[in-house]
Amino acid sequence: MTDTLFTPLRLRDTEIPNRVMVSPMCQYSSTDGYADDWHLVHLGSRAVGGAGIVMTEATAVSPEGRISPNDLGIWSDDHADALAPTAEFISEHGSVPAIQLAHAGRKASIHRPWDGGNPVLEEDGGWTPVAPSAIPYPRDEPAPEVHKLTTDEIQGVIDDFRVAAERALDAGFEIAEIHAAHGYLLHEFLSPVANDRDDAYGGSFENRTRLVREVTDAVREVWPDDKPVFVRISATDWLDDRESWDIEQSVRLAADLERLGVDLIDVSSGGIHPDQQLPNAGPGYQTPYAERIRDETGLAVGAVGGIRTARHADELVRNERADLAIVGRQHLRDPYFALHAAEELGEEAEWPPQYRRA
Ligand code: FNR
Repeated sequence: MTDTLFTPLRLRDTEIPNRVMVSPMCQYSSTDGYADDWHLVHLGSRAVGGAGIVMTEATAVSPEGRISPNDLGIWSDDHADALAPTAEFISEHGSVPAIQLAHAGRKASIHRPWDGGNPVLEEDGGWTPVAPSAIPYPRDEPAPEVHKLTTDEIQGVIDDFRVAAERALDAGFEIAEIHAAHGYLLHEFLSPVANDRDDAYGGSFENRTRLVREVTDAVREVWPDDKPVFVRISATDWLDDRESWDIEQSVRLAADLERLGVDLIDVSSGGIHPDQQLPNAGPGYQTPYAERIRDETGLAVGAVGGIRTARHADELVRNERADLAIVGRQHLRDPYFALHAAEELGEEAEWPPQYRRA
């Protein structure tokens, strides 16, 4: 039987009711990293809206791992306590609560987009971003200094991810996703564009992928065997004119991650450098990469990017191009994307009883 958008997906012992996942999307609405009513209402609405998985935005494993001072975080037990009601609400409404664990690396300490997105000065609450190498992310304005992580500090980052995962589990999340995409810290280690280290964490493929593998190992160690771990990667840097990260390396990394117990690769792209040459970034432009990773490794994958319609999402699963349709901005326009998709595709749409008289 052909799988469709509404065929449940079982990963380990987690039953995902359908193939729609809310893509992680920063809300830049936290104070000191805490989840608040915004997160409960925003993520809760998408669970009521029928998505199979509701993923939090990038949730920083340490204060310096935030993109902006308004990012969500999970670097203390109090932060986890603040997230727990959201995870519980998502579960209660039939969706699987997932958390994206993140570190922004050299792209940290900028103002949120609607405040201009420029670097935050130290006197305004900013901090020195950390990175594999002291190469700042190129910006129009003078780039702030970047601190090159020592090997001891790298061990600290791995511990931060491990402890964050433990806290996320206590908070009630079912799926942990490691953010290794979009030019943030873990991607910076993968890509020679941002990593010119000459120690065990730079140079060869083996060395550049070491941190992602060690973080994955640490998260898998504390994440129970019956629950899934995802990794989001940028399948390519879109920088063919220089030594960079590409799909061949992504396929190799995905195979390594599978051996470490990763259940699904969330396949995005880009973000390491403003010179990136995106092709026509129309609907599904990243899907061929997801498809290739799925074909060559046999791992489950999520496709993301420009999925706006029920038919597009359904086609991805039906034609075995991806196991999940990961929907970002369309979920901002329509929290009920999954319920509307069910109606459009002739499936039973289980609206909550409160809304059934509409
Ligand atoms: C994003 N994106 C993103 N990605 C990620 O891995 N972690 C994050 O926290 C965010 N934050 C974020 C905020 C906002 C407002 C947008 C629009 C996007 C990227 C997002 O998850 C997704 O990959 C892209 O938006 C492409 O998918 P859509 O929007 O075309 O479905």
